[in-house]
This record gives sequence, structure tokens and C-alpha cells, in this order.
Amino acid sequence: MYVTAVVNQKGGVGKSATVLNVGAALAESGRRVLLVDLDPQGHLTRALGLPAAGTANLPRALLGQWDGELGELVLPFGERLQVLPTSEDMFVLEPQLYSRTGREWLLSRLLDAFAPAFDDCLIDCPPSLGALTDAALAAARTDGDHMGRVVIPVQAEDSSLDALRLLLRQLATLTQVLAIEVPVAGLVVNLYDARRGRVATSMLEVFQRRDDVLAVIGDRKEIREGWRLKQPVIAHAPESEPAGWYRDLAKRLVDGGAR
Ligand SMILES: Nc1ncnc2c1ncn2[C@@H]1O[C@H](COP(=O)(O)OP(=O)(O)OP(=O)(O)O)[C@@H](O)[C@H]1O
Ligand SMILES: [Mg+2]
Repeated sequence: MYVTAVVNQKGGVGKSATVLNVGAALAESGRRVLLVDLDPQGHLTRALGLPAAGTANLPRALLGQWDGELGELVLPFGERLQVLPTSEDMFVLEPQLYSRTGREWLLSRLLDAFAPAFDDCLIDCPPSLGALTDAALAAARTDGDHMGRVVIPVQAEDSSLDALRLLLRQLATLTQVLAIEVPVAGLVVNLYDARRGRVATSMLEVFQRRDDVLAVIGDRKEIREGWRLKQPVIAHAPESEPAGWYRDLAKRLVDGGAR
């Protein structure tokens, strides 16, 4: 199973929309996909129209307080796509994690149990650089037993560059402390609107100079409408240009490292 953490501590850049739309495109291409809503805000869980988890939930599973069937933790969302929803308990989980040694590995260990049943796992990270994001980054490592990477949605505006620098610094620190390798697959420039003028176009050029832009996703009503209708854009507007962008992005991720 390939684990992709979709991460950026900056809010509203499109992490959850990327997870939903890329996840659906991966499933459409035949891959078995698990989406993990690691954000206590639960935007992804809500965007999919799923109920928040009950007693069988992600925080309990992370803390080792769930010994039921793994299948009870996930909910189906269409063919080949399953979701590990969040629950309100996630809000109290994060502070508890700080006093727990080995907290960085809790999510990775849980996902190991799901690995045989899925080809891809996409983690929707919260907009912060806390213990949950660290756990997602650790779960996205690549080593002898794991295949992982991070995908970073960014917006073409000045503050996104500062956020990106901070995120990459945090990633470098974490990988050094934990002695792990977490490949950065690349950026998804999201909510792009060239009509915003030089600010947007020149920032896009700055990102493109990094040479790892995986996709440029425009600010488009089909994506917004799909989100509101609890549908990925490939279902809401299957023939639209944005649907094509997400299919291309999914293909790029598969080609960039599926085993
Ligand atoms: N390319 C796009 N075109 C139009 N609307 C978009 C696009 N990407 C995201 N949105 C919308 O922008 C809003 C914010 O996106 P999203 O929730 O995915 O960001 P986020 O990074 O997950 O936010 P948070 O940091 O709060 O978790 C959502 O309403 C979403 O539908
Ligand atoms: Mg989100």
C-alpha cells in the first residue's frame, strides 16, 4: 500500500479537496483506496456526507483502545473507495499524544494493518504542525517495508511560499530525529486563477522552478459544487476539465511509484 500524506499547515489550501478528488480518481482507475481523515475538524468526513465515527473510531484505534474488527473503523464511499472518518474525540487525542512516547508511529502501525486490503492510502492532514501531522509524515516514510510520500497543496500567493518553507523545515527536522526518509512527491498548485494577475502567475513560476509541480488545479466551480454536493468532481462533472486534471494527477502518482 502506498501511503500519501496530503499536508500543509496553512488552512484552506485544498488538502481535503485534493484527498477527495485524487482518491476518487485513483479508485476509478482500478486501485483500492483508503482515505484517512486525520483532521479533527472533520471536513473530509462531512464533505463525503459520512457520519462521524461512533465508538469504533480512529482516536481509539490509534491509542490501542479498539480491539474489534478493522472493517468496523472504515465506511464505504463508492466502489473501491473506503474512508476512515474522524470523530470529535480527535480534538482531545492530540494533546494526549504529546505525553506518549512513540506517538509518531501510532498511525503508521494502524495503517500497516490495512495495507493488505488497499493499494493507496491518502491522509488528509489538519492545518497545523502538531503531533497528528508528525504521525502522518512518519506514516508516509519510505523504507524496506513501507512506501510513502508527501503531496503538498499550495496556493499561488506569497504567504504560501513562507508556509512551504516552514513545512519543509519541519519535515527535515522530523526525518532527522526519527531517522526516516519521507519523499516529497511534489506540489499541487491549487485554486489557481491567472485572472488574479502577476501575483498568481509569478508565484506559479516560482513554484515551477522547483521542478516538482505535479498539477495546477484551477479555481473552478465544478470542484466547489462537487464538494457541496458531497461528490468528487469526476462524479459530479465527469467530462469537465477539472475531472481531467484529477485523473492526470492520479495517473502521475501511480506512475511515480506504484509497486
Ligand atoms: N480547485 C478548487 N476550485 C474551487 N474550489 C476549491 C478548490 N480547491 C478547494 N476548493 C474549495 O475551497 C475550500 C477549502 O478547501 P479544502 O477544505 O480542501 O482546504 P483544506 O486545506 O483542507 O482546509 P483546512 O486547512 O481547513 O483543512 C473548500 O470549500 C473546497 O471545496
Ligand atoms: Mg481540510
